[in-house]
Amino acid sequence: MADMDNMAAIDFDRYDRIRPIRWEGDHLQLLDQRKLPFATEYVECRTYQDVAQAIFDLTVRGAPAIGISAAYGVVLASFDVNAADGVEALAKLEPAMQVLHDARPTAVNLAWALEQLRHTFRASGADWKNKLLDRANDIAKEDLAANRSMGIAGAELIAPNSRVMTHCNTGSLATAGFGTALGVIRAGVAMGRINKVFAGETRPWMQGARLTAWELQEDGIEPTLVGDSAAAHLMKTGAIDWVIVGADRICANGDTANKIGTYALAIAAKHHGLKFMVVAPESTVDMGTANGDLIHIEERDPQELLGIGGVRTAAPGINAWNPVFDVTPSELIDAIVTEKGVIEHPNAEKMRAVFGQMSST
Ligand code: MRU
Repeated sequence: MADMDNMAAIDFDRYDRIRPIRWEGDHLQLLDQRKLPFATEYVECRTYQDVAQAIFDLTVRGAPAIGISAAYGVVLASFDVNAADGVEALAKLEPAMQVLHDARPTAVNLAWALEQLRHTFRASGADWKNKLLDRANDIAKEDLAANRSMGIAGAELIAPNSRVMTHCNTGSLATAGFGTALGVIRAGVAMGRINKVFAGETRPWMQGARLTAWELQEDGIEPTLVGDSAAAHLMKTGAIDWVIVGADRICANGDTANKIGTYALAIAAKHHGLKFMVVAPESTVDMGTANGDLIHIEERDPQELLGIGGVRTAAPGINAWNPVFDVTPSELIDAIVTEKGVIEHPNAEKMRAVFGQMSST
């Protein structure tokens, strides 16, 4: 659990200014992450279909942010529904929830958020619409609180003046705020534990180059961008102490799905004797999936690989394979940091001790 003195020492307002999801009372605004860092525009979602499309298109992305957006998507869908109580409302809203669920398969936070709302429906009477909105708001608030506490707990594992590398974007943009792995980096810088940050560019969608580098720069933390293919060489030069990443799904044995390229970083870190940390809230833990072989890995349009920023780089007629996540086996992970506690050298027994037995989502 995060030390309270360290919690009090962090100026969260300094680090916590970007908000990718805004609930406006009758619609949802999502910061368009396809256009960052050169344009800061919000997309307006007035229906659950708008939200599902925004999740699929990566307008909003990052496991916790997807879950929070889907929860508000259900709130939007509820506007058209008349029902005497939550049970009747749930029956009417299940088709919309299925559409939201199917928008992206790998991040379990999406299924988790919908399951949270199902519990709320079942426990609600005539006031189910208020209860639904309250739960959606709480999912966002709980995520922010978890990130702040994980940030400090993760930073406490790191020796002063360490050098770290991260992958993809796990910051405010990917969450309700502060971030998971990026939250550890923010807290680590504030606490004097981290004095150098390398960000991998994260082909093909460039979450590292476009989003993480920008977020860090906005905070006054100067990142050094590296090509994904430069990571192992960078480690060999002795420039890194920790690799710190987020997660899209953590299985019952600690196997972890995250952005494609994470597995390669974990192997390279092990080879060079570096530490590897995964940071994710309980909403990313899937105790109903025994191990990483059972995770559905999203494959996206090969067009994403055949060019950069809309400019074609491969010759016409070239085929491409575009899996956007991979699975890091638990034996390559030194620590999983959650708001429920830190699990060092994770395995099924240690995961069960913290998270118990959960049903599959
Ligand atoms: O395809 P994306 O950009 O949604 O993938 C995001 C990641 O893989 C993140 O590392 C993960 O969701 C954790 S975000 C706190």
